[in-house]
Amino acid sequence: MDIDSLKRSAVTAVENVSNLKDLEAVRVKYLGRKGELTKILRSLKELSLKERREIGPAANKLKQELGKLIEERKQTVQGIASEGGHNDVTRPGEKVKIGHIHPLTRIEREVRDIFTSLNFSIIDGPEIETEYYNFDALNIPPNHPARDVWDTFWLKQSATKKGKPLLRTHTSPMQIRYMETHEPPFQIIVPGRVFRYEATDASHEINFYQVEGLMVGKNVTLANFKYVMEEFLKRLFGHQVQFRFRPGYFPFVEPGLEVDIKLSKEHHRLGGKWLEIMGAGMVHRKVFNAVKYNSNPPAGGVQGFAFGVGLDRLAMIKYNIPDIRLFYSGDLRFVRQF
Ligand code: DAH
Repeated sequence: MDIDSLKRSAVTAVENVSNLKDLEAVRVKYLGRKGELTKILRSLKELSLKERREIGPAANKLKQELGKLIEERKQTVQGIASEGGHNDVTRPGEKVKIGHIHPLTRIEREVRDIFTSLNFSIIDGPEIETEYYNFDALNIPPNHPARDVWDTFWLKQSATKKGKPLLRTHTSPMQIRYMETHEPPFQIIVPGRVFRYEATDASHEINFYQVEGLMVGKNVTLANFKYVMEEFLKRLFGHQVQFRFRPGYFPFVEPGLEVDIKLSKEHHRLGGKWLEIMGAGMVHRKVFNAVKYNSNPPAGGVQGFAFGVGLDRLAMIKYNIPDIRLFYSGDLRFVRQF
């Protein structure tokens, strides 16, 4: 048989099969050990040089083509099989699975966007801190009872000039680091992860996220803080949000205060109740002393406000999440809801 007619019959045979078994039979018929094309290739050596030169390349080429054709047909036949034997063009499309943004990432982005639009800069800081930045410079000296408020993970490495190393228990140490290297006026926020050596429950985790805020300048007052809070809270929670300041104690601010919010009953599970969301206040003179700022306004000094807010808590309120541990569970059923 000549190569051309062999090719025609092989191609037709491949195109006519509709299952893998028949396709394999066709492959064996042409390319198997005793296949028709194989026979031709084997018998080449018995031919004259002239015939060999003619038939050899053509037969080899057909072998390649046929192999490829069979492979392609195999894909098609398999595709048809997995669709239940036929191509149903009316079948509804399959939903493409897309990724979801973790609620903590989502709330952090919202907070960043709001503060960026208020002309705050976004600053990053280290999660491994030292006693000096986490406590001493923030007016929490050793043996101060307030240290107990922040149950600390101490690291085993030996102490440096800045004291023993630890996992930061809040983002406030970045107030000190930033002021050590910058001059006022400025306004910054520092989002970041913090760590507490605590038992976990629905509202406590051993690590969570905070955003620190700091604004320092010649005439920065609590009235400026109130404006920033009003913008922040209304943009994050909507215009119906109410908020209030209550006196609170933190060693690094004087006066210190806590901010509560109240959401509308109709829109929120937690609506109608005052919810505590952050600590804040006017930066303590001793904190300014630690970074060698002049904090005496009559003598040209600066003043400012600081605040610290838990991102997990904001997300729990805004997205109605009942348990902080869900954020860290790695459970996709949770993340897929956002
Ligand atoms: N660092 C405090 C905490 O983790 C929160 C805080 C309170 C931050 C008052 C501040 C502040 O900047 O002024 O509990």
